[in-house]
Amino acid sequence: MLSTYTARSVAAPSAVITGWGSYVPPRVLSNRDLESRIDTTDAWIVERTGIRERHVVEDGEATSGMAAKAARVAIERAGIAADELDAVMVATTTADHLVPTAACLVQEQIGARHAAVFDIGAACAGFVYGLAVAKGLVASGAARRVLLVAAETISRFIDWTDRSTCVLFGDGAGAVVIEASEGRGGIRGTVLRGDGTKRHALWVEGGGSLMARIPDAKDGQMFRLRMDGQEVFKLAVPSMARACEEVLAAEGLRLSDVTLLIPHQANLRIIEAVGKRLGIDRAKVFVNIERYGNTSAASIPIALCEAVEQGRVRPGDRILMCAFGGGMTWGAALVEWSGAPVAVGRKGIAARARDLLARRARRAGGSTSPRAT
Ligand code: UT7
Repeated sequence: MLSTYTARSVAAPSAVITGWGSYVPPRVLSNRDLESRIDTTDAWIVERTGIRERHVVEDGEATSGMAAKAARVAIERAGIAADELDAVMVATTTADHLVPTAACLVQEQIGARHAAVFDIGAACAGFVYGLAVAKGLVASGAARRVLLVAAETISRFIDWTDRSTCVLFGDGAGAVVIEASEGRGGIRGTVLRGDGTKRHALWVEGGGSLMARIPDAKDGQMFRLRMDGQEVFKLAVPSMARACEEVLAAEGLRLSDVTLLIPHQANLRIIEAVGKRLGIDRAKVFVNIERYGNTSAASIPIALCEAVEQGRVRPGDRILMCAFGGGMTWGAALVEWSGAPVAVGRKGIAARARDLLARRARRAGGSTSPRAT
């Protein structure tokens, strides 16, 4: 649940990532598989995009299911119970339904009974937008524990006969738990930008209130993703690079202060061009596009999970993230990795466990005391 409290003279708590998890569907679609379906080659796809394979959902699987799987891992890593979450946000443009939001379905699946629930619609930039919202909720005192999931089932909106788009995208989900902390670090700063005048460069025309899906709709293509790849490419590179520079400047940092750049994984050539424009060492740029393709909003948290697993992120490290996508929307976020969180009011693991048990006991006894910081 979200409830604000009156401003205090104390500094706002930090918003620290304490849990992380990802999920991709088991079914792998390789470039070779696509060669047998459309006029393309593995060589073209690898050379122009860096992608070798992507994961796609099976019938019956959709965004909320993947999101819940990633969320459960993140919650377990954070060492909290789902019913301790104050907010569940899902960054997605491919929710299971128009109504309800994907966040409502995730809330039900993980049992986050006390959370406010809403989706964030910022296409591929959704995770970066979500980090900004989470930071704001925590800093204002409206929430102490936030689950941010980014999940997409783009494969359902692809025209599988359009070789200029169908080779690019994949499905998947990534999640983080963000908690209020008295420690330093966490989500330091974010830069969010958008430009609706360029919306036709990447869009799905139908399915909204202007052109709702109707059973006898003749032109199913209206409900498929269309993209002017070159236009998006040209816009994406300078926009992401500028957003990175802006967030660093706002935090009084330089590129040399950054340990790892995790860019949205849309195209290896875009990633390399952003890195070159920034002047960052190639070894500091995280890339996993070859195995997932472009998973839209989910690409950064999936990459973050892999970076942590590979030991490329350690406490105190500064991670720069940037994304660009439909809308157009773009942005950057600077996160200082914290390792073990210093939860607000917490003395240690044992104290936290006692706290959890006490809260559960209060709830069982019908207590309705608010969660103010
Ligand atoms: O998530 C954020 C949104 N998305 C992006 O950031 C994607 C941005 N754009 C891109 O990544 C690239 O523009 C693409 C990968 C989409 C396309 O790469 P490109 O180097 O810009 O290729 P192109 O569109 O200029 O096409 C070059 C040629 C064309 O043939 P002609 O006209 O030169 O004979 C295309 O028809 O490549 C052809 N082509 C393909 N050939 C084999 C396009 N797609 C394919 C394909 N296989 N899959």
